[in-house]
Amino acid sequence: MKTVLITGANKGIGFEVARQLAELGFFVYLGSRDKERGTASILKLNNLGLSNVASLVIDVTDTNSIQRARLELESKITALDILINNAGISGDLPTRLFYL
Ligand SMILES: NC(=O)c1ccc[n+]([C@@H]2O[C@H](COP(=O)([O-])OP(=O)(O)OC[C@H]3O[C@@H](n4cnc5c(N)ncnc54)[C@H](OP(=O)(O)O)[C@@H]3O)[C@@H](O)[C@H]2O)c1
Repeated sequence: MKTVLITGANKGIGFEVARQLAELGFFVYLGSRDKERGTASILKLNNLGLSNVASLVIDVTDTNSIQRARLELESKITALDILINNAGISGDLPTRLFYL
């Protein structure tokens, strides 16, 4: 199963992209800077019958948060197939997921 991480996915466009990619059969890591909001969004997807989803706490403005997210992902998967940097923050911080 292909994996995708979407930042800022607990609502709005990111959430909808998460829903649609989960429906298409991707395993979706739903990025949320707030743990509770992430968990609530996962429950919404579960209630739609989608179980191939998990939340990942990531604040794209916080290098420590990005590094924690990267380590958590590394403990679960060997490769991330797609990164959708939906959280609207300019700069290169999200790319450090891969280069730290
Ligand atoms: N909607 C439009 O018409 C439109 C048009 C052009 C471009 N865009 C761009 O498309 C993207 C999504 O838009 P949207 O309308 O879906 O926005 P939205 O409803 O405001 O959702 C933004 C998402 O990003 C999260 N977020 C904000 N700051 C973050 C941070 N520092 N780290 C991680 N996540 C963060 C928010 O989390 P919280 O819930 O914690 O705030 C939320 O989940 C944005 O980049 C926006 O600029 C949107």
